[in-house]
Amino acid sequence: MEKYNSLVVVGSQWGDEGKGKMTDYFAQRADVVVRFAGGDNAGHVINFNGQKHKVTIIPSGIFNKKVTNIIANGCVVNLINLVKEFEVIKKSGVDYGNLLISDRVQLILPYHIKIDEAQEEARGANKIGTTKRGIGPAYQDKVSRLGIRLGELEDDNFKERFQSVFDYQMKFLQTMFGVEPLNFEDTYNDLINAYNAIKDKVIDTDIFIENAIKDGKKVLFEGAQGALLDIDHGTYPYVTSSNTSANNASTGSGISHKLIDSTMGVVKAYSTRVGAGAFPTELTNEIGDGIRERGHEYGSNTKRPRRVGWLDAVALKHAIRTSGIDSMFITLLDVLSGIDEINICVRYELDGKEINSVPSTNQKYEKCKPVYMSNPGWKEDITQVKSFDQLPDAAKKYLKMMEKICEVPISGFSVGPDREQTILLENIF
Ligand code: GDP
Ligand code: IMO
Ligand code: MG
Repeated sequence: MEKYNSLVVVGSQWGDEGKGKMTDYFAQRADVVVRFAGGDNAGHVINFNGQKHKVTIIPSGIFNKKVTNIIANGCVVNLINLVKEFEVIKKSGVDYGNLLISDRVQLILPYHIKIDEAQEEARGANKIGTTKRGIGPAYQDKVSRLGIRLGELEDDNFKERFQSVFDYQMKFLQTMFGVEPLNFEDTYNDLINAYNAIKDKVIDTDIFIENAIKDGKKVLFEGAQGALLDIDHGTYPYVTSSNTSANNASTGSGISHKLIDSTMGVVKAYSTRVGAGAFPTELTNEIGDGIRERGHEYGSNTKRPRRVGWLDAVALKHAIRTSGIDSMFITLLDVLSGIDEINICVRYELDGKEINSVPSTNQKYEKCKPVYMSNPGWKEDITQVKSFDQLPDAAKKYLKMMEKICEVPISGFSVGPDREQTILLENIF
C-alpha cells in the first residue's frame, strides 16, 4: 500500500469501533486533524501514558501538541458543551490552544435538545434511542434553513435574527409537544458567554485545510459514528442525522474530494450497536455478555450497554462500498480471546432467499437471518502481542478470512485500548 498525505478515518459499523484511538494513534504523525460530521453524540475514549481521556466534539488529535485540530463545517456544535469539554481536558493537563472551529458549523441550541427529547417521547415504541444531544433537530434546522451558523454571531443584527428563529422554535415546541418555552434573554446570554470563550478559534477553516494539503502537510479526516448510521446509506430510520460515511469528508470540511488520498475503515473484530434498529448478528446469550464485559461495551457518552453481535461482513461490505474504504484497521481483537468458535456473517437469508446486501428498510432487515462461516477461536491473551507473527494461528486466520471476504487489505490491528497496543502492518500515513 502507498503512504498517503491525506487520509480519512471512518467507522465501518454502527459506531464505537475505536475511531478515537486510531485517530489519536495516526495523529502522532499528522499536522492537521479535521472532524467533519456529527456533534457531541460521539464519544471517543483515548488511552496513553496510563491516562484515559474522553472527547465528544473536540477532534481526537487534541492530545498531540503539534497537531492543529479543526471542527469543520459538517459538524453541529453545542458551544456550551464544547466549553465544558475544554475545561475537562485542560484539567488533565492538555493544551487546547491548537483548536480551530469553522465559522460555518451549525449550532446545537437548548431548544434542539428539548425537541430531541420530545420527538423521542412521541415516537413511543418506535424510539430511535438517540443520545438526546439535539443532533437530529439541529441537522433538521440546517436543512430547513432555520439553523444558526457560528459565523452569524459576529453579524450586527444577530440578536434580532436569533430572536425570530427562537420565537418560531418556541411556538413549535409549545404547540407540537406542549413543552414550556425557554427564556430568550437567558438562552441568548448563555450562548454569547460560551461564544466569548472560544471566539478567537473561529476561522474559515476550508481555506486552512486546502492550504495545508497543498503545502504537503499531513491531514487526517476523523469521522464520527459509523457508516451504517449514515443518514443516506445506513439502516434508516435507525441512524444519526448526518452523512457519517467517508464521502462526506470533502463536503463536511469544504474541500474538493480530489484532495483526499485514501480512506481507512476502523472495524471492530465483532459488532456493536447502541440504540434501536435491526441487528441480524446480535448475540443475546452468554457469548454476547462475555464480549460486552471483556470489551467494556457501555456507551462512553450515555453509559447504555451496547448490543453485541458477531462480525457482519454483509454490513461491512456495504460500508466498504459506500465509503470507498481502501484498507481496514481491526480493533478490539483481544476481546475475542477465549471464545471456542467465532462466526462471521457472510450472507443473509430473507424470505427463503439468500441475499448479499443490506435491505433498504428496517422491516426487511429485521427479517434477515444471518448465514455464518465458522472460524476456530483461540484461548491465548493477546494484549501484549507486538506483531502479526506473535498472534495465535487462529487469530491470524480470522484476520486473513476478513481480508478474503471483504477483498480489502488490513493495514493494522489493535489488541488493547492503549496507544501502544497498536500493530501497524502497512505504513499508510
Ligand atoms: P469510537 O467512538 O469509535 O472512538 O470508539 P469508543 O471510544 O466509543 O469505543 C471504543 C472503546 O474500545 C473505547 O473504550 C476504547 O478505549 C476501547 N478500545 C479501542 N481499541 C481497543 C482494543 O483494541 N482493545 C480493547 N480491549 N479496547 C479497545
Ligand atoms: P461514536 O462517534 C454509537 C446512535 C444512537 C442512536 C442513533 C441516533 O462514538 O461512534 P443521535 O443522537 O445521533 O440522533 O442518535 O445513533 N449513535 C451512536 N452510536 N456511536 C456513536 O458515536 C453514536 N452517535 C449516535 O445511539 O441509535
Ligand atoms: Mg464512541
